[in-house]
Amino acid sequence: MPSPVARGPNPDSRTPNPESPMSSVPAIELRGVSLSFESKQVLADISFALGAGETLILLGVTGSGKSVLLKLMLGLLKPDGGQVLIEGQDLVPLSEDSLQPIRQRMGIVFQEGALFDSLSVYDNVAYRLREEHVGDEAVIEQRVREVLRFVEMEPAIEKMPSELSGGMRRRVAIARTIISRPSIMLYDSPTGGLDPVTSNTINVLIAKLRDVQHVTSVVVTHRLQDAFLLANDVFSEEKQTVVPAGQDSPTNSRAATRFLVIRDGSVYFRGSEHELTSSQDPYLHKYLA
Ligand SMILES: Nc1ncnc2c1ncn2[C@@H]1O[C@H](COP(=O)(O)OP(=O)(O)OP(=O)(O)O)[C@@H](O)[C@H]1O
Ligand SMILES: [Mg+2]
Repeated sequence: MPSPVARGPNPDSRTPNPESPMSSVPAIELRGVSLSFESKQVLADISFALGAGETLILLGVTGSGKSVLLKLMLGLLKPDGGQVLIEGQDLVPLSEDSLQPIRQRMGIVFQEGALFDSLSVYDNVAYRLREEHVGDEAVIEQRVREVLRFVEMEPAIEKMPSELSGGMRRRVAIARTIISRPSIMLYDSPTGGLDPVTSNTINVLIAKLRDVQHVTSVVVTHRLQDAFLLANDVFSEEKQTVVPAGQDSPTNSRAATRFLVIRDGSVYFRGSEHELTSSQDPYLHKYLA
């Protein structure tokens, strides 16, 4: 097993995000997390920290443990060892009931989009509010329209999922997730199966949530161009799209993007985009080729 290459920033010396009230506590931190399914070790001693408002790009070949990591962050799976801290609170000892308020601050977008096919766009997006017993329909409708506008899908409010394209479904899935204003978003291959143009609209949306609402983001992707776009571009409210960072107003400055490459269940690389792309490590070279 080759030794891990880059070390990236020490989590303890991260620059705090000045815009975040949570700057002293990482939004997400894993400490020595290990997990086996039966006799197969899937994750071994994973540690990293992500500050509030920052972006983590999670890379790794298929089966390396990326989706399992996202499930651990939501408390859907429990590790055999280690700690999973969300905004400073360790999920591992918590019961399902105690996990609920933490999960409400988080959102996950699965690759499949996972909409209820029998429910309209409106009812899909309203679902979480109804689960949380936000009773007043006028309040629900106002909020549903607001998030659909954010993802540019308000005209489709009456449609059924079967009437939507893959990219539209993905947008609605994101709207459905952000309805309860999560401070942390987890995206599992959000552009998987989409054409490059549609993928780009999803990347713009991820950047918009991050840069306008300062949502902490974890993005699993096999598409390196998506990862580099998120690392280099910022959402411009004026242009309503992404522009290269530094070319827009200073209000568009944002917190760091960190890269993590998982290999065989361990952290193989952690660091910045520059450290990743300039690495001479043969495995990373091949991965990035
Ligand atoms: N519930 C489970 N029971 C047993 N094994 C599992 C379970 N979930 C995941 N695994 C195994 O854990 C390993 C990591 O799976 P994971 O889904 O995290 O991979 P991944 O990195 O997300 O892959 P992909 O890029 O294809 O989505 C795989 O070997 C998988 O078979
Ligand atoms: Mg996966």
